[in-house]
Amino acid sequence: MDACLSSEQQPGCPGEGLNSPGGRLEAEEETVQKDGTSGPAGDFNIDPSLHSLQEFVPTDYASYTQEHYLFAGKKIVVQESIESYGAVVWPGATALCQYLEEHTVDLNLQDAKILEIGAGPGLVSIVASILGAQVTATDLPDVLGNLQYNLLKNTLKHTAHLPEVKELVWGEGLEQKFPKSTFYYDYVLASDVVYHHYCLDKLLTTMVYLSQPGTVLLWANKFRFSTDYEFLDKFKQVFDTTFLAEFPESSVKIFKGILKWD
Ligand SMILES: C[S@@+](CC[C@H](N)C(=O)[O-])C[C@H]1O[C@@H](n2cnc3c(N)ncnc32)[C@H](O)[C@@H]1O
Repeated sequence: MDACLSSEQQPGCPGEGLNSPGGRLEAEEETVQKDGTSGPAGDFNIDPSLHSLQEFVPTDYASYTQEHYLFAGKKIVVQESIESYGAVVWPGATALCQYLEEHTVDLNLQDAKILEIGAGPGLVSIVASILGAQVTATDLPDVLGNLQYNLLKNTLKHTAHLPEVKELVWGEGLEQKFPKSTFYYDYVLASDVVYHHYCLDKLLTTMVYLSQPGTVLLWANKFRFSTDYEFLDKFKQVFDTTFLAEFPESSVKIFKGILKWD
C-alpha cells in the first residue's frame, strides 16, 4: 500500500479508537488578540497584514490539553490533542528544540530561513522563531489549524519574524508550491517524521527536493523500529550525514544531512 494517510488515520495514531473530532475549541479558554493579550476563543481580530492567518481556524478536535514547555528562556504553551499524530509534541521535537537553543550561535539562526516538515503542533517552529529565524511550518492540511493557532499564540509580538504556515504533503506538488527559483532554505527541520507509515519514500524525496546548495537538514528522530534504521541507511546514501547528538533517555538521535551533489 502506498497511500499516505491523514495524520488522524496513521498507523499507531495516539488517538486511535477515540471518538471522532467534535466541538470547535470549546475546551480552549483563551486566544490571542491584536494587542497580544488574551481574550475569548474564536475572535481573531488581528492586524490586516496578518490577514492570511485568518484563513486558518483551530482544528476541530473534540478535546485539547494545554502543555507547557520552556525553551530559549520563554514559556511556551502548546495546544495538543491525542486525537491526531500531528497534534501531539513528540520526543524528537523536544530534543531538537534543546539542540537548537544550545547551538543557536553556531547554527547562526538569527534571520536564517527555515522550513519545518511535519511540524505537527509546532513546538520546533515556535522555538526556531523565538531564536530569531524566519520560519515556515508545514504539514498535512488537517493539522494546519492547530499548528497555526499554536504558532500565533506563542510568537505574536515575541519574535522578529512571524512564522508562516503552509501545506506540504510529502512528495506532492513540490515544484508548484515550493519552486526552487523562489524558495531557498538555510535549514530544513524534521522531528519524528520517520515512524511506521507508508510515505517514507515520499518523505525522502521531499527532503532531497528542499535541499539546495548550502541547505542543512536537521533531522531528530526517536528510533523504535527496524524501518527507522532502514530509512537512515537510505538517508545516508543521498545526504552526507553527521551524527550530532543522542538523548538516551528518549532514544532520540539527531543527524545533520547535506545533500550529496556528485
Ligand atoms: C509523529 S508526528 C511529529 C510531529 C512533530 N514534528 C513533533 O515531533 O512533535 C509526524 C508529523 O508528520 C506529519 N505527516 C505525516 N505524513 C505526512 C505526509 N505524507 N505529508 C506531510 N506531513 C505528514 C503528521 O501530520 C505529523 O504532524
